[in-house]
Amino acid sequence: MRLCVNIDHVATLRQARGELEPDPVTAAMICELAGADGIVCHLREDRRHINDRDVHLLRELVKTKLDLEMSIEPQIVSIACKVRPDLSTLVPERRQELTTEGGLDVIGNFERLKNVIRELQSNKIEVSLFVDPVKEQIQAAADLGVEFVEIHTGFYANAVSEEEAKEELEKIKESAILGRKLGLGVNAGHGLNYLNIIPFREIKEIEEVSIGHAIISRAVFVGLFNAVQEMVKIVKGI
Ligand code: PXP
Repeated sequence: MRLCVNIDHVATLRQARGELEPDPVTAAMICELAGADGIVCHLREDRRHINDRDVHLLRELVKTKLDLEMSIEPQIVSIACKVRPDLSTLVPERRQELTTEGGLDVIGNFERLKNVIRELQSNKIEVSLFVDPVKEQIQAAADLGVEFVEIHTGFYANAVSEEEAKEELEKIKESAILGRKLGLGVNAGHGLNYLNIIPFREIKEIEEVSIGHAIISRAVFVGLFNAVQEMVKIVKGI
């Protein structure tokens, strides 16, 4: 399984002072040195953390893979088409939310998504749709001809009992199997940490995980290089 590190929260810390440090671009370089397979950032419409300058520099400097998380708002889509990340992960976005709160309603937004996906793909950008572990949403993603889905793992991560976590994990596994069967690449993410990631090593259909908050939080205490390296070892079972 590959590990992509989301560096948004390095930018969150920078924005807390409105100054230049810490720089998420430097963070991305350290993540790559520590063995990350890719870098993820979310250019939000309100620019609350990652900004346009970060995205342009990341595109220039990231040597592994750049995954731009984004809404389907036309201004953001136009930036993506210019920057050309390796992957665009489309997510729902609401201004008041603290973080992405759930998967896209692919069925309900089918026509809008179709146009955005066509525009991104015609600029040679692969597209991933962030979806809840729900069969119909995975099927709709496949119908739209995207290359990947990212299964939302937030319900699993927030489960309040072992039993609930097991049920949520089962949904994720079934969705991953379906995604592969439909020819999609399958990623997963949201709320994953150093402990709850472990069962994912057994789900062979999941190619990649996207992890941010847990790694950046640990980095405060052990340093970013160590925090990433530890997660790389867990994800790859080494
Ligand atoms: N994947 C998606 C689509 C997300 O929106 C986020 C949060 O930005 C993540 C993964 C990473 O989540 P976390 O920061 O909880 O690891």
